[in-house]
Amino acid sequence: MTSGVRGEGIDQYAVIGNPVVHSKSPWIHARFAEQTGERIEYGRVLGTVGEFADDVRAFVETGGRGMNVTVPFKLDAHAFANTLTPRAAAAGAVNTLAFNADGVLGDNTDGVGLVRDIEGNLGVGLKGARVLLLGAGGAARGVVLPMLDCGVAALTIVNRTASKAQILVDHFSDAAHAANVRFSGGGADSVEAGPYDVIVNATAGSLDDALPTCDDASFGPGTLAYDMMYSAQPTVFMRHAETLGARSSDGLGMLVEQAAESFFLWRGVRPDSGAVLRALRLELSKSI
Ligand code: ATR
Repeated sequence: MTSGVRGEGIDQYAVIGNPVVHSKSPWIHARFAEQTGERIEYGRVLGTVGEFADDVRAFVETGGRGMNVTVPFKLDAHAFANTLTPRAAAAGAVNTLAFNADGVLGDNTDGVGLVRDIEGNLGVGLKGARVLLLGAGGAARGVVLPMLDCGVAALTIVNRTASKAQILVDHFSDAAHAANVRFSGGGADSVEAGPYDVIVNATAGSLDDALPTCDDASFGPGTLAYDMMYSAQPTVFMRHAETLGARSSDGLGMLVEQAAESFFLWRGVRPDSGAVLRALRLELSKSI
């Protein structure tokens, strides 16, 4: 584990990951702190695989109040927390830890971050929408409950390995039933006919420039194609969607919104995430 010099008496936060050097979370939380006047310091911790608990305890001992958790430690954080929020329990992964007198609270703000970006920043209402979720790994799993909760009409999960999509469908079938959502999934042949309102790419494909298999007929002019990845240039999934006439977005807004929700959990104050997203987009464009 590594850490920076810390200010006396200032509440300490950090993102833990491996690698962590490229994380934008310190930049985002510094902007939130400036905006809100909250006196916090937010750094990076390079975690060691297999030593997550020791690394977190060391951070707490030096005044740590909370952490964001990124790859590959979200399952370790889930195991480490004494208490889980319902959305962290549903996601089976934790991206936010809060250290307080009662112990360690584990939360997952990724799914709500996605929903806020789609509805708040991109202006696409999810109530009554037909949503296609591509992928069935950890990133997809974290999105299912927040999507069901915001009143979508239908949610289809499609994955390269059909059985993994089916496992997710089985896992969340009661929640979908309670939310009155048409809910199904499997391989590429599980898609419903006609364009979807929203298609979310939660596969790891964009990391290797790979396009997940999806039916071109799922995309239309009224479709928002959302890639949970981001980069200075549009991803292959975004480019593909645009050629089919859909509107596309990367996941930079989700990154900022999940951070805003973590900040709110820790500090009880909601930052102006839209302003920070615009500033971060500008920073990212300078890195081309
Ligand atoms: P994460 O926690 O980021 O979701 P993961 O659990 O490894 O990562 O899941 C990766 C997801 O991306 C899976 O749904 C995977 O499909 P499989 O279950 O069939 O492996 C999907 N994925 C990765 N590379 C892909 C590709 N080139 N095309 C389509 N799907 C891909």
